[in-house]
Amino acid sequence: MKRVKAIYPGSFDPPTNGHLDLIERGSKIFDELVVAILRNPEKDPLFSVNDRRQMLESMTAGFENVSVDTFHGLTVDYALRVDARAILRGIRAISDYEYELQMALMNRKLQPGLETVFMMPAEKYSYLSSRLVREVAQLGGPVNCLVPALVVQKLREKMDVAHKFNIDDDGGGPEAAPEAAQRMSPEKAIDAKPKSRKRKS
Ligand SMILES: Nc1ncnc2c1ncn2[C@@H]1O[C@H](COP(=O)(O)OP(=O)(O)O)[C@@H](O)[C@H]1O
Ligand SMILES: [Mg+2]
Repeated sequence: MKRVKAIYPGSFDPPTNGHLDLIERGSKIFDELVVAILRNPEKDPLFSVNDRRQMLESMTAGFENVSVDTFHGLTVDYALRVDARAILRGIRAISDYEYELQMALMNRKLQPGLETVFMMPAEKYSYLSSRLVREVAQLGGPVNCLVPALVVQKLREKMDVAHKFNIDDDGGGPEAAPEAAQRMSPEKAIDAKPKSRKRKS
């Protein structure tokens, strides 16, 4: 039987539970899956490539057939270089479709032997994007249900907003997580409620 190696290219800035969902699904249908972080000098990422690599390596440590790499330049060139036959991409909503279709067809033109395979994440991740995570974190909102714990930690360090989450300190900080962030994830926002809220008055 042919062994199929696939790459899962992206920015992963930062990696989210949606990415992880896709990696898990991909690891089940491909013999080998390489999560490939694009080094794009034109983007101004929140996390360095090294940080992103570290996070992804830790997130995927439990998958025997998943590895993490970085690349720059054309995705199809990278795929050929590592001997991959498929590109895995995620489709969340109709909004992803047009861009992803364009890319897939362009990649096919550049390299007809390479297939793009689209997978859908679990519904609960279909609204989740790295950009949204960055925005919520930047506003001090809870992101613990959106990204793995390690990424929450890295975001806290990056944003220096530990006091806003108010999880492990007893006093100070705003009285509540920002309203907007709570609205986005009502059930999980409870996890990040400041202790002051639990006090009886
Ligand atoms: N929540 C999610 N569920 C499923 N797929 C996702 C999710 N977030 C991102 N993806 C997919 O993962 C891939 C990489 O996304 P991303 O890190 O944003 O990099 P890019 O800059 O290539 O869009 C894309 O195919 C994207 O559609
Ligand atoms: Mg994207």
